[in-house]
Amino acid sequence: MDLKKYLMAGGLSLVLVLGACGGDTEETDDSADDAATEESTTEEGSEEGASTSDVDAEGVAQSSCASCHGEDFSGGMGPALQGTSLSEDEFTEIVRNGQGSMPEFSEDQVSDEELTAMYDMWSE
Ligand code: HEC
Repeated sequence: MDLKKYLMAGGLSLVLVLGACGGDTEETDDSADDAATEESTTEEGSEEGASTSDVDAEGVAQSSCASCHGEDFSGGMGPALQGTSLSEDEFTEIVRNGQGSMPEFSEDQVSDEELTAMYDMWSE
């Protein structure tokens, strides 16, 4: 009977699987009128061209922001983000440039789509 070992191995591989997925970003180089073609090309999970619907705002926020702003984003070391009264421009600027002990996040860390989705999630 090696049940313990089996369980440990199972747990470990689960962590690896979870760690491996996520973070896939789509390269978009549409400068002009590519928007019209999007219906015909992709089928998987496409919803009327809503660009933020396939962004995991909650997941990104949990891994990048929750450590300082609280797990439910009601505040921690940093102020509450849930129910923010900032405008989207102010919000974006603070995250991109940092403020006080708030670190700055580049586009490699948090994409514009993710920022918009987070703002939508919190400003409601
Ligand atoms: C290392 C801790 C830390 C992390 C990580 C962090 N923040 Fe902050 N954040 C702060 C602190 C501290 C402030 C207050 C800054 C000040 O005004 O001095 C702040 C302020 C802000 C503000 C301004 C809030 C207001 O009402 O004035 C926004 C918006 C914000 N953070 C968004 C984010 C987002 C989005 C993320 C994740 C991408 C994030 N923060 C990650 C610490 C952090």
